[in-house]
Amino acid sequence: MLDATENLSRPLQETAPPVWGIAGFGWVARDYALPGILAAGGRVAAIADPDPSARRAAAAAGIGASADLAGLLADPTVGAIYVATPNHLHRAAVEAAAQAGKAVLCEKPMAATRADAEAMADCVARTGIRYGTAFDQRHHPAHAAIRDAIASGAIGRVTAIRIVYACWVDAGFARDNWRADPGRAGGGALMDLAPHGLDLTEFLLSERVEAIAALTQHRVQPYAVDDGALLIGRTANGVLLQMHVAYNCPEALPRRRLEVIGTEGQIVADRTMGQTPGGEVWLHDGRLGLRRKLPVPDATASPFTRQMSAFARFASGAEDGTFSIARDLHIMRLLDRAYAAAGSARCP
Ligand SMILES: NC(=O)c1ccc[n+]([C@@H]2O[C@H](COP(=O)([O-])OP(=O)(O)OC[C@H]3O[C@@H](n4cnc5c(N)ncnc54)[C@H](O)[C@@H]3O)[C@@H](O)[C@H]2O)c1
Repeated sequence: MLDATENLSRPLQETAPPVWGIAGFGWVARDYALPGILAAGGRVAAIADPDPSARRAAAAAGIGASADLAGLLADPTVGAIYVATPNHLHRAAVEAAAQAGKAVLCEKPMAATRADAEAMADCVARTGIRYGTAFDQRHHPAHAAIRDAIASGAIGRVTAIRIVYACWVDAGFARDNWRADPGRAGGGALMDLAPHGLDLTEFLLSERVEAIAALTQHRVQPYAVDDGALLIGRTANGVLLQMHVAYNCPEALPRRRLEVIGTEGQIVADRTMGQTPGGEVWLHDGRLGLRRKLPVPDATASPFTRQMSAFARFASGAEDGTFSIARDLHIMRLLDRAYAAAGSARCP
């Protein structure tokens, strides 16, 4: 069993939040991370982004902006850097921030390649900074409630987890659609979406996924990376994982589902996977033949706000297992093994 000491039910604010800098002020940084930092009581000193439109968006939000990281890294008031660049640039930003002694919260996947992730881990070890990969699903209040329900024995002995996490990413998804570029993304739907499900599985069960296999597809979208994948896995204690990830599912369709199957019940979560709070969680009791809604404490709290609060605690020295670079590296290795098992190069 790993991470048995993880505890996300503690009060959100225990320490002074760091002053943040943001590297890469695109979609996730603007829509989710910045509001999360502010709601957690933090402050953003400035952002760094080479795109003038990103810098204009920062200015409109009253935040300073520059084209590169140098100013932020030289600013002694900045304690933490949130990295939300395209995947292939995570390594350079993380290494620069680490060498400047800043704590780093880096978006998933940790890097575009396993080799980059290994180099980042070496740099973090050398510099001794606090590093976390931003797996926001473990901070969703519904997922914390599901984890507690599993631990309390509500569904008996867990036998399997089934996940569907899909969306629509066509060639014109963004002005600069780096997700469709193998060199910048490091892979397609599997690389982008499977890390969430793998980390969430390990969070819910407090154990590692050890065996993994996958099939990828290039079915609908015209680009080089995979637009869908099926993964199967097995945890250290024998729980089976089945996960369908896709870039080829219209967003009006059901596409976000988490099921945890046990010997005495099932938990079915609909629309909890994603960046926002909400969704529905049902607990099916196999002994009574009934289903009821699982109560979710703090149900409207943003996963990003909770993540930023948790990282503030971690950056100030708390150690509760929420962030683990060893686990982040392990997820990168699983992704590599999944692509290898699929027999499709991750960058076809
Ligand atoms: N946790 C989540 O739910 C979630 C959701 C979306 C994206 N992400 C991750 O966040 C990262 C960014 O994704 P996005 O959708 O926001 O992409 P995006 O394209 O919207 O934003 C990326 C930004 O990085 C900027 N950038 C490019 N080169 C840079 C550099 N050298 N220094 C600083 N900034 C640079 C771009 O100009 C752009 O503004 C990716 O790693 C992605 O996988 C995570």
